Amino acid sequence: MTAIEQTKWLTSGDFTQADDPLRLFGDWLDAATRTEPADPNAMALATVDADGLPNVRMMLLKGYDQRGFVFYTSTESQKGRELSTQPKAALTFHWKSLTRQVRVRGLVEPVDPAEADAYFATRPRLAQISAWASRQSAPLESRLAFEKAVAFYGTRYAISAVPRPPYWTGYRVVPLSIEFWHDRPFRLHDRVEFRRSRPDEPWLKTRLYP
Ligand SMILES: Cc1cc2nc3c(=O)[nH]c(=O)nc-3n(C[C@H](O)[C@H](O)[C@H](O)COP(=O)(O)O)c2cc1C
Repeated sequence: MTAIEQTKWLTSGDFTQADDPLRLFGDWLDAATRTEPADPNAMALATVDADGLPNVRMMLLKGYDQRGFVFYTSTESQKGRELSTQPKAALTFHWKSLTRQVRVRGLVEPVDPAEADAYFATRPRLAQISAWASRQSAPLESRLAFEKAVAFYGTRYAISAVPRPPYWTGYRVVPLSIEFWHDRPFRLHDRVEFRRSRPDEPWLKTRLYP
């Protein structure tokens, strides 16, 4: 049995019986961590701009718990600006090795500054410097200009810890719906949605036609 077949077998219990969506998400992410060749925490993040035009890009999930799903970025990036006017988002995880998808929709809030500081401190030094050097999503005149900015901030913080830039932080997607989809033969897929109208309400579970 290959590692992928083994993980599928070990985790093939009937997920439609689950009643805690964050716990089920954790089980699926753990399984994907054993089977995906790279970045099991990669997800598509969708936002909308001020005109309601959707925007989507890949991101890395950096934390999750019963409060929601956390990612880190620049508040001055395109997505940061979109989230400041429309603090709502959708996420999609797709694990090809497990033929599974999870979709999340919810409200977005910034994480506590202390939480962002703690996460920033765990990043490799060069990634910290690049957060200072990159004006994410702004026009860049040349690669050289970027490399000069990296050199500038590398010198500035040569003998001290690199502080978190004021415009770099985490966002938490507080879920209002979480949908689990698992491929079954002949397109008879299993699909279960957990939904609530407010974050302080209990989850309602519904099985959906695939
Ligand atoms: C697999 C993958 C993971 C990524 N993770 C992040 C991330 O965690 N944070 C981030 O700011 N950009 C990340 N990016 C880059 C974003 O997709 C995007 O290019 C960038 O954030 C600018 O997006 P925006 O202009 O819509 O704000 C990632 C890209 C890929 C392909």
